[in-house]
Amino acid sequence: MIYLDSNATTQVHPEVLEAMLPFLTDHWHNPSSGYRAAKVVKNALATAHEQVAALINAKPEEIVMTGCGTESNNAVLAFMASQANDKRRIVTSAIEHSAILRYCESISEKNDIIVDKVGVDAGGRLCLDQFKEAVQQEDCLMASIMWANNETGVIQPVHEAAALARDHGVIMHSDAIQAVGKTPVDVREVGIDFLSISGHKFHAPKGVGAIYVREGMRYEPLLIGGGQEGGRRSGTENVASIVGLGKAAEIMKKRLDADGHAGVAELRDHFEKRVTSELEGVRINGAPEYRTANTCHVSFDGCEAAGLLILLDEYGVQCSAGSACMTGKQQPSHVQTAMGISALSAKSSLRISFSIFSTRDECDVAVEAVKKAVGKLRSVQGGPGVGPVQVYTGN
Ligand SMILES: Cc1ncc(COP(=O)(O)O)c(C=O)c1O
Repeated sequence: MIYLDSNATTQVHPEVLEAMLPFLTDHWHNPSSGYRAAKVVKNALATAHEQVAALINAKPEEIVMTGCGTESNNAVLAFMASQANDKRRIVTSAIEHSAILRYCESISEKNDIIVDKVGVDAGGRLCLDQFKEAVQQEDCLMASIMWANNETGVIQPVHEAAALARDHGVIMHSDAIQAVGKTPVDVREVGIDFLSISGHKFHAPKGVGAIYVREGMRYEPLLIGGGQEGGRRSGTENVASIVGLGKAAEIMKKRLDADGHAGVAELRDHFEKRVTSELEGVRINGAPEYRTANTCHVSFDGCEAAGLLILLDEYGVQCSAGSACMTGKQQPSHVQTAMGISALSAKSSLRISFSIFSTRDECDVAVEAVKKAVGKLRSVQGGPGVGPVQVYTGN
């Protein structure tokens, strides 16, 4: 199988697994224990904090390990909601992941928080004018803008948004789960207060994440108990996974420093060049100059994505329609709707996301599979927007 769904998750890097294994075998002790064996474990956790911090130009003490990206997002929003007084407005964008949008809905109901969802332009980038208006409001408490979108890969103007937030005394968070490890993220340069990370998007295992909490920034945790992570996230640490997250951060930092994932971008561009030149009725979505290196969001006129996915799976290619969370649902995603992509076009789009393990050969095989699947669907559907999708498999 050819795996082109790396925005959904990535395979664990072999060096990451190698780094983790001793912490599932020999070094299984509780890092908080007092004996020497536990010290080894504690030291490994400290190294992981250093490695994750280095990837985003933070200090190790500014990194709080969590159980996943969703927890990181929820924990920051929960803390901010707990701080609401006469300031009770949270500004976010219309294209955030459900780990932000649904949590905002929940605190809006439970904590009487006002949520402003700022729109994006046709290229999928945050409308900064609207954002500025929103953070200027006197009751604005916090802004949360994702660094890169999970469906389109479009990198958001987080620098500009953070500066606007700062100018108006508004706390700034970014869900950088689709950006960290894929594109340079420098928390110092941007001047951000909180940032969310998830390991499984960059070759660490699933079920581990982190929050960057700027030094000096007040923060109260979601989980309260034994005081691990400097009291900012209680619960005995998932040591092996945290070690894996650290190792993955180290690997990705080296690659980003070396060439900014130029090899991955080259593959993505090759894929796009071939599908747009060898097939008609193909559109690449999202501002091309602002995307993470690995992501292609593409619409094929006259084909429903659900049918394409089934055929591509049969031809040995795994990818996604919209985002993984949307698979199986027949509505256009909120991201595509916010970008003004028509419902028909939205339903005919795929997300192809490469990784450092993708190869040129795989890319070429995937192009042929896409051509075959699109040809087949168009022949049974009779052209753009005509008739129901019927998927004939087996030949
Ligand atoms: C932008 C974004 N935020 C949050 C999440 C949730 O992360 P996790 O799966 O680690 O909970 C994802 C995962 O798809 C994501 O893409």
